[in-house]
Amino acid sequence: MRILLVGCCGRMGREVTEVAAARGHEIVCGVDVAPTKMPYPVYRSFAEIGENCDVVIDFSSAQGLAESLAYAEAHGLPILLAATGYRDDDFGQIARAAKRVPIFQTGNLSLGVNLLQSLVKRAATVLGAEFDVEIVERHHNQKKDAPSGTALMLAQSVEAGRGALARVYGRQGNTGARPKGEIGIHAVRGGNIVGEHEVMFAGEDEIVTLSHSARSRKVFASGALRAAAWLLGKTAGRYSMDDLLCDLI
Ligand SMILES: NC(=O)c1ccc[n+]([C@@H]2O[C@H](COP(=O)([O-])OP(=O)(O)OC[C@H]3O[C@@H](n4cnc5c(N)ncnc54)[C@H](O)[C@@H]3O)[C@@H](O)[C@H]2O)c1
Repeated sequence: MRILLVGCCGRMGREVTEVAAARGHEIVCGVDVAPTKMPYPVYRSFAEIGENCDVVIDFSSAQGLAESLAYAEAHGLPILLAATGYRDDDFGQIARAAKRVPIFQTGNLSLGVNLLQSLVKRAATVLGAEFDVEIVERHHNQKKDAPSGTALMLAQSVEAGRGALARVYGRQGNTGARPKGEIGIHAVRGGNIVGEHEVMFAGEDEIVTLSHSARSRKVFASGALRAAAWLLGKTAGRYSMDDLLCDLI
């Protein structure tokens, strides 16, 4: 694959650069608002790009979305949106662009987390309304958005199994007794934690906890390259890890 890597100088950009080289993919160039030396040309803006590529991988930030989508659309390229922190209007933009180019978007590219999602949905269905659900996520102290995209995906999985719940982001003060029909989501930040997610189902006499721990960023870089390769040749539309996993099974 010939790859254009957006956000190439960040933690994930450097990880993808390493894994891509080991797998024989070529990063033809990168775009980053804070360029540093990489083994390929790095541009501050898309306007400077002269190279051709097969696919765009975006590990920058939600703020980079509009420019990445505009470039992919202008060049008819498939694009993997791997950044997190997108808001509702961003998802509107993604849906519009997906009418013209294939777009893969996921808040978590690890196989384990995607398995966790389906286990969480099943647990929510089986355990039902008698169990209080709380999600705790832990990440490094440089992470810019909270809660993590993965925590939100896990909340959706709970709701897919149990119906809509009122989301409560952290608690403080005189909150009173915990109402039924609530889901608590908590973000912990510190050190160099790669990414940990825990979903707790607390009942009267038993607790079920499902969790995932990422031990290195390589898991996301490998997942990104696998998703990008899978996206090549797809028709315009929106794709997620579910689509990729369906093809794997
Ligand atoms: N989907 C997943 O599985 C997954 C896994 C890990 C991280 N992420 C997400 O990927 C993103 C990057 O993570 P990171 O740890 O590498 O962050 P980082 O801050 O280390 O790197 C981001 C890089 O993007 C650049 N950048 C920021 N905004 C930009 C813009 N508008 N245009 C061009 N470049 C821009 C920054 O200069 C930086 O070099 C975050 O949103 C993070 O949450 C997703």
